[in-house]
Amino acid sequence: MHLHSIRLTQFRNYEAESIVFHPGFNVLTGANGMGKTNILDAVYYLCLGKSYFSAGDKFVVRHGSEFFRLEGTFRESGNPEKVVIKSLPGNRKEIEVNGKKLERIGDLVGRYGCVIISPDDIHLMLEGSEERRNFINNTIVQTDTLYLDNLLLYTQLLKRRNSLLKTFADGHTFDPLLLDTVSESMAAPSVFIHNKRQELVRMLSPVFNQCYGAISGSAEQVGITYQSQLENRDLITLFADTLAKDRLLARTTAGIHRDDLVFTMDGEPLKAFASQGQLKSFVLSLKLAQYSIMQSVSGRDPILLLDDIFDKLDHSRVQHLLALLHGGGYGQVFITDTEASRMKTIMDQVVGDYHMFEVSKGNVSEKSSDPQPE
Ligand SMILES: Nc1ncnc2c1ncn2[C@@H]1O[C@H](COP(=O)(O)OP(=O)(O)OP(=O)(O)O)[C@@H](O)[C@H]1O
Ligand SMILES: [Mg+2]
Repeated sequence: MHLHSIRLTQFRNYEAESIVFHPGFNVLTGANGMGKTNILDAVYYLCLGKSYFSAGDKFVVRHGSEFFRLEGTFRESGNPEKVVIKSLPGNRKEIEVNGKKLERIGDLVGRYGCVIISPDDIHLMLEGSEERRNFINNTIVQTDTLYLDNLLLYTQLLKRRNSLLKTFADGHTFDPLLLDTVSESMAAPSVFIHNKRQELVRMLSPVFNQCYGAISGSAEQVGITYQSQLENRDLITLFADTLAKDRLLARTTAGIHRDDLVFTMDGEPLKAFASQGQLKSFVLSLKLAQYSIMQSVSGRDPILLLDDIFDKLDHSRVQHLLALLHGGGYGQVFITDTEASRMKTIMDQVVGDYHMFEVSKGNVSEKSSDPQPE
């Protein structure tokens, strides 16, 4: 499966633009602020129904416009599938696949797998545990339709439990039966989510180590571990243990919404220990491992979006990475970079067959295609 073409209307700095892509490697080059990353975000949006970079569509719609529209044609061996997304921020959003409106935005998720690697990921993955949970969630929702339902159910019940705790605290009351009813209904989605996360990290870990070894030339030993309060206790016991604290703080202080991933390098905490290039290699490997897992679980090649990945990597890591990308059985790949000449040299050397685009102030033009073999 690959994205054959895309049409952007009033999307970020694009007024109206159409692009036809290569089914393999696509390289987008141009100066800072021209709109390279915005194209990757448009591709991501067509796969997952939301922006990777912005929390709301009001940041996505072109300044001065009320709406934006994205159209993408995906091709597999069979018939093409056309996805149209129309959004009027603050008002409504619609997604159509082959002219048929989807009932829920979430129904798009999982049809077209997509993995993005961007420079922001490094600090995101190191800062809040929420980002690390997002990484886990984002991986599993794309391969397991029940996961999203369980996640939504859990979040809804968590809100309900928190609001009960707040009501009790505010009114100096307590209704254990009412609280128990909500707590008990959280048990089933918790177990489901916990098991899926455990399974993911179990699968991810060896692939991640392999990717890191390939990119770094096995320079360091790295590790990821899943950390969850549900590891040794079931949810009901956990809630019983934290009840006094929950009542005092008027919120649910324990549960799978506190899950985390622990990252290490040579046995030390990653954040305190690693250099910038090592961090970058770490996050790259994590995302490439995500790609492999999604690929093997779904049996299809996700789209890979690589935003500015060569920045801060030394020459040998860049070469290793490209060799990995080229030899690693990836499907369609999008790469952005500011240096057209460096990209051309690298791509000619390693890939050979690709499309190159020049991005300039919201305009995309194809620079060269399929260079002739020598
Ligand atoms: N909603 C929007 N409406 C209009 N312009 C926008 C919107 N969102 C972002 N932009 C503009 O898009 C441009 C940034 O595009 P983008 O991030 O794709 O650049 P880039 O080519 O990836 O640059 P860099 O090389 O620095 O990463 C900026 O000029 C920004 O002001
Ligand atoms: Mg960019």
